[in-house]
Amino acid sequence: MPFTNPCARSRPRAVWSFAAFMIVATMGADARSAEQSSATLSPQALQEIAELEAEIDRIEAGSLERLAAPPDNQVQQIELLGKLMLYDKQLSVNRNEACAFCHMPETGFTGPVSELNRTTGSYPGSVRTRFGNRKPQSHAYAPLSPVLHYNSAQGDLVGGNFWDMRATGRRLGNPAAEQAEGPPTNPVEMGLPDVACAVYRASQRPYRALFESVWGPQAFAIAWPDNVEQACERPGPATAGDPLPVHLSPIDRGRVGATFDQMAQSIAGYEASAEVTAFTSKFDAVLAKKAQFTPQEQAGYDLFRGKAQCNTCHRDGGPGEDPLLTDFTASNIGTPANPRLPYYGESRPDALGYVANPEGPSFVDGGVGSFLSGGHLLSQPSPVDARWLKLAPDNQARIQVPTLRNVDKRPYPAFVKAYGHNGYFTSLKMITHFYNTRDVLPRCPPHDAGEGTTCWPAPESTANMNASRVGHLGLSDAEEDALVSFMQTLTDGYTPLNRQ
Ligand code: HEC
Ligand code: HEC
Repeated sequence: MPFTNPCARSRPRAVWSFAAFMIVATMGADARSAEQSSATLSPQALQEIAELEAEIDRIEAGSLERLAAPPDNQVQQIELLGKLMLYDKQLSVNRNEACAFCHMPETGFTGPVSELNRTTGSYPGSVRTRFGNRKPQSHAYAPLSPVLHYNSAQGDLVGGNFWDMRATGRRLGNPAAEQAEGPPTNPVEMGLPDVACAVYRASQRPYRALFESVWGPQAFAIAWPDNVEQACERPGPATAGDPLPVHLSPIDRGRVGATFDQMAQSIAGYEASAEVTAFTSKFDAVLAKKAQFTPQEQAGYDLFRGKAQCNTCHRDGGPGEDPLLTDFTASNIGTPANPRLPYYGESRPDALGYVANPEGPSFVDGGVGSFLSGGHLLSQPSPVDARWLKLAPDNQARIQVPTLRNVDKRPYPAFVKAYGHNGYFTSLKMITHFYNTRDVLPRCPPHDAGEGTTCWPAPESTANMNASRVGHLGLSDAEEDALVSFMQTLTDGYTPLNRQ
């Protein structure tokens, strides 16, 4: 990757974060930035982001207080460590973006900024002018995904994390842990230039002692080079000439890798904890016979399992099977492209010379197929199994079936959530209407006011598109509403009225 701004290397951190902010604030004044004006954050988004950052700091501060008297049980220690890292903005290049920036509890651990969900669909990274290519998924229930494997009877790949399954779990036996190794060095997310920077930054944090007592005193016993601070302040990706800019001995490099794995395992441990993966929705209460659906919710559930066939992919459980509302396979349901993604405009070098999307407006998300054939442009936490290359054509444009747990969880009713891998859909009614009418309604002419109601744009890709169970369900408007009503029972934190 070409870097054309050599002065950034020596800039002190505070000045640099301020400079990053100014790039946003003065967008349009600078000639190069003007080319990316689609990546401007609106005043409303900036306001929500400021509140979000304060809330993340509050949660982190509250968790740090628990270090004074940490739990004595090792599982709970790992959960606490994981939470401390998930809310730690110091693990991003500009010290401004924790994992939680894109995954907060009040939205079911997905994108917490209504204005971004409504407009850009994707989220900006630690370098605030860089947006990713997809909508944040929920990290709850993600650790329950199996290690990615090929089920030859079914002819399907099953498991892994990420919309394209690329966090396979085959190296660590844990897809969510491998997932957690993606964001820190993803240039459009936390943006560190080297995984060693995540380990170095963690070694400077108050949770270091707890980490060492859980994972061993070797964890941070690393001879850091004198310039480690500066090397880690320069946003990634690293240059081809210096791919690992924190220069370490081979043994220290190995130790960094092992400690980074343990950081990721701790984060996955927290994601799997009852605080996050809770199974406390009304739906769970109904299954446990501690609550009853309303007639509309019941009608929706019956449709979900019956006429609408939703549970053929969003599995609602069965003998020996948790109701995770996904079967961890992948399908192409024909989601239209989301033209609001700033990613389409990220085809020119940014202020640091980085090009997020060389394909520009012609980018098509190839989903699982693209991961199998080429890895992932932005982050590649797991090695690709070359023997699966032959599966790529059958998996082109397929996207992993997401869990529907917490799909409606939102802090207030007018809060907008985005749905689908690219955030094209902005309400549950809209995506349900799409399942019902994709193949029935006409294609929208450009800028048609009826888009999403009386017509649909073309799918982003028709490769391997599911035409048997999706697209022409013959549901009435009231039946669509009933399905939405059922999905609203999947929000965790329900207290059954009759709980003793
Ligand atoms: C800038 C926003 C952003 C940040 C920061 C971020 N994520 Fe995500 N997260 C996303 C997006 C977008 C996806 C889907 C990406 C894809 O499929 O390519 C995702 C996917 C995930 C998933 C996959 C869920 C599943 O069911 O497969 C997990 C788990 C997750 N993130 C956890 C984390 C953790 C842990 C961190 C910090 C180490 C983090 N995220 C940082 C945006 C973000
Ligand atoms: C053939 C498998 C399949 C069937 C059947 C199916 N889905 Fe999905 N569902 C998916 C896939 C795959 C995605 C992700 C699509 C994408 O990102 O393009 C998805 C996404 C969703 C989402 C968005 C969730 C999120 O977090 O973004 C909702 C809501 C949803 N489905 C509801 C339903 C409902 C309701 C039905 C029945 C009417 C249904 N699905 C039937 C496979 C399926």
